[in-house]
Amino acid sequence: MAMHSDRQLVNLALIGFMGTGKTSVGRLVAEQLHFEFLDTDDLIQTRTGRSIADIFTKDGEPAFRALERQVVGELTARRQTVIATGGGLPAEPANLTSLKTHALVACLWASKEKIWERVRNQSHRPLLHDSDPQRKIRELLELRAPFYQQADVLINTDQRSAREVAQQIILQFKLARRSER
Ligand code: S3P
Repeated sequence: MAMHSDRQLVNLALIGFMGTGKTSVGRLVAEQLHFEFLDTDDLIQTRTGRSIADIFTKDGEPAFRALERQVVGELTARRQTVIATGGGLPAEPANLTSLKTHALVACLWASKEKIWERVRNQSHRPLLHDSDPQRKIRELLELRAPFYQQADVLINTDQRSAREVAQQIILQFKLARRSER
C-alpha cells in the first residue's frame, strides 16, 4: 500500500453504504485498539439536538451535507480515534481527501441484497423512506461505488461477522502504520 508522505495515519475511518456495519465494526475496532469511537451522524445529532431524519425533512439534504462537511473539518484534530461515517459522506470528494490526511480509510462493502436484508426493518434512514427502497439502494450504490472504491482498504462484509471484519481492519491498519515508518 503506497502511502503519501503528507498523510499521518493517526486515526481509522470507516466508510461504506448504509447497513454495512460501520458502527458495530467501528466499536469493536476501537475497543481492541484502545481508541476512542466517534460516529459522524451521532456528532451531528448531538450538536444540533435533532435527528438526522428531522434535519433531512425540515432543512433538506444539502443542509445535512453542510453539517457533515463541518464535522469532517473538525476531525483533522482527532488522534487515536475510530471514525464511523454516514453512508453519503465520501460522495463529497473533499471529505474523502480530508479524511485521508489523518486516517487510514477502510470501506465496508456489501451486496445490495445483504444491505436490504440489514436495513429493511429499520426506519431511521430518510433516504430509504421511498416507495421503492430496494431500487433506491441500487441507484445510490451505483452512484457511490466510485467513491467507496477510493478507500485504502476495501472489505467485503457479506460472508463475514462484525468480529471478522474488525480483525481484518485492525490487521490492515497495523500493516499500513508499519509501512509508514
Ligand atoms: C446516509 C446515511 C446515514 C445518514 C443519513 C444519510 C446516506 O448514515 O448519514 O441518513 O446518505 O447514505 P449510515 O450510513 O450510518 O446509515
